[in-house]
Amino acid sequence: MILITGGAGFIGGNFVHHWFERQQKSGLPPEQVVVFDKLTYAGNPQTISEHLQSGRATLVHADIADREAVRAALARYKPRAILHFAAESHVDRSIHGPGEFIHTNMVGTFSLLEEARAYWGAMNEADKAAFRFLHVSTDEVYGSLEADDAAFSETTPYAPNSPYSASKAGSDHLVRAYHHTYGLPTLTTNCSNNYGPYHFPEKLIPLMILNALEGKPLPVYGDGLNIRDWLYVRDHCEAICQVLEKGRTGETYNVGGINEIKNIDVVTTICRKLDELRPKADGSKYEAQITYVADRPGHDRRYAIDPRKIQREIGWSPAETFESGINKTIQWFLDNTEWVNAVRSGAYREWLDRNYAGRA
Ligand code: NAD
Ligand code: TYD
Repeated sequence: MILITGGAGFIGGNFVHHWFERQQKSGLPPEQVVVFDKLTYAGNPQTISEHLQSGRATLVHADIADREAVRAALARYKPRAILHFAAESHVDRSIHGPGEFIHTNMVGTFSLLEEARAYWGAMNEADKAAFRFLHVSTDEVYGSLEADDAAFSETTPYAPNSPYSASKAGSDHLVRAYHHTYGLPTLTTNCSNNYGPYHFPEKLIPLMILNALEGKPLPVYGDGLNIRDWLYVRDHCEAICQVLEKGRTGETYNVGGINEIKNIDVVTTICRKLDELRPKADGSKYEAQITYVADRPGHDRRYAIDPRKIQREIGWSPAETFESGINKTIQWFLDNTEWVNAVRSGAYREWLDRNYAGRA
């Protein structure tokens, strides 16, 4: 049994699918999953409904900052590992309201670590040695790169610039300290921007796909020349599985897609693919919907991951190119309108008004 916080979100939900598919493919004995999730606006049990219905996965609906709920889940399900995905994850939301980010990313991670420490401390020696606390973090903790800077490695100093990245940096430091001070067998992964199925449509790629299809403006922040290193979500999930199996405790591993791309190029790639798959009735091109809008305050210019440590020590490399990954992603959004409609509730529309209405 493994316990996954945030398993109803984008990456955690994909991880649940990947976990069971991987077991099936390799003939491994099935290992159950407990998803511990507060089900915020970003958490959607529909993402993992087939596994909940089959009984392979169980959902505990609770906040990671609720220590009694965490304690009860650990006592009841006795996981051999905790995979910590739960977080407030959207930079723009952290600019509008940082409080939730401190609550979940810092206080929540602290609560989880405290309960994990007590649970692990009471195990017998063999279980103690096998236990893992895997913390999923971001490359944004390293700050922003200039065009000719070397990519982020595991030894790059932390320099977070947004309330989101600062709260994730705080959580990374806590995880490090729980290993160093108490010996908790932790693993940390810092990955670049993920994309793929079940991506909540407030983030760049799903927002652009859905706005394009609805004939809405495609809002590119600033000059559109900011660079992200795009990682297909299933490649990330596989990296996590391998770090869980082979990672050295107390270590961090950077996970990148080896796909540095300017935002404007991401958007035009999506537009051109949609021109092919869903040509517009009036013959115009989706690119005509691109609209430059006022920049995000403190917008990091470039992120890039140096993945050599995980390649060398773990033997992981991404399987998807940006072209293959974006094609799969666009097709998924075209095929899954039911999921898309379900997540775009009234609260989602309010967010769009709050984030985009004031931008020149
Ligand atoms: P997401 O926002 O899609 O999902 C977050 C999940 O956590 C949701 O299911 C939500 O309900 C749950 N959650 C939030 N607060 C909670 C709380 N207090 N208690 C319990 N559950 C709570 O996020 P994501 O994109 O899937 O990201 C997962 C992890 O990966 C995060 O830690 C994030 O920082 C990290 N990460 C994400 C990316 C990316 O590109 N999405 C890149 C690097 C790192
Ligand atoms: P995002 O998906 O929010 O991820 P992050 O900020 O964590 O990297 O944004 C990716 C990039 O796209 C980032 O440089 C901001 C930019 N962006 C836009 O230009 N327009 C948008 O509407 C959004 C949501 C993001």
